Amino acid sequence: MKLFSGSSNIPLAEKIAHHLNIPVSPVEIFVFPDGERRVRFEESVVDEDVIVVQTTATPVDQNYMELFFLLDSAKRSGAKSLTLVMPYFGYQRQDHIFRDGEAVSLQVVIKLLESLSVDRLLAVDLHTIRIPELFSIPVMHVSALELFAHVIKQQKWLQDTVLVSPDMGGINRIQKIADMLEKMPWVSLEKNRDLTTGKIEINTINGEVKRRALMVDDMISSGNTIVKGAKLLKENGVEEIYVFVTHPIFSHEAPQLLQDSVVDKVFVTDTVDVPHNKRFPKLQILSVGEMIAKELRQN
Ligand code: R5P
Repeated sequence: MKLFSGSSNIPLAEKIAHHLNIPVSPVEIFVFPDGERRVRFEESVVDEDVIVVQTTATPVDQNYMELFFLLDSAKRSGAKSLTLVMPYFGYQRQDHIFRDGEAVSLQVVIKLLESLSVDRLLAVDLHTIRIPELFSIPVMHVSALELFAHVIKQQKWLQDTVLVSPDMGGINRIQKIADMLEKMPWVSLEKNRDLTTGKIEINTINGEVKRRALMVDDMISSGNTIVKGAKLLKENGVEEIYVFVTHPIFSHEAPQLLQDSVVDKVFVTDTVDVPHNKRFPKLQILSVGEMIAKELRQN
């Protein structure tokens, strides 16, 4: 078995490799002056089970192109099998047509990956439970919810506490983590998004809040969902707010917005590598490396 990494999240690839007891095999990624990339495995993959790790957060398209070349190179060079580990799966939110005339970007990406002979995919906390069904290859789905439940228990944040889904789409997720926390009560917020501008409004809480709130979501991009949701919770009497989000995409000013917000702490995972200039005092990063390695070992 050999593991190669694209350039998007080398620290996580190293952690996965460490837990698999194998090295990260060398790959040359050369960037031409015009931005085009050339990739080349520097070790033979003939008859090997090859794992390629690449997360496809910002810069999304660049990371995808690099990944397509890595996959092409693996099969072309004689790999026996090809497992793609994509800790964050870019374009997963565009999984259907929201307005007439739009592309289903997720379907396009799936077609491209399957055409490049990927045998199986491992992804972490996909946006909806429907996404694995859209693939014709096996999808291994790892969830950070277990990791979050572990931290919550360790911190003893169990009494006078409510779980919060920042939108109706997250209810399935919140029910799952509630089950891991002895059926902790949960509420959901009502989020409305303007489909043209992307601007959101959150004005309603469905359910009764408590002194402490634990907001759980799959990703933070602009940070607006968490910041606006937390503000509403605070206005309704919540005293402590902790955030648990799998994918720290952190677009634009998200780190500053979160640091300046009413939330007490933001727990994320390393599915996306957060550069040092985007880290902030309220942030804590947990690793999914061991969980991914365990899933790869078992399957
Ligand atoms: C939306 O359905 C997702 O679950 C997240 O709530 C959303 O993508 C977060 O985006 P932002 O941080 O830009 O509000």
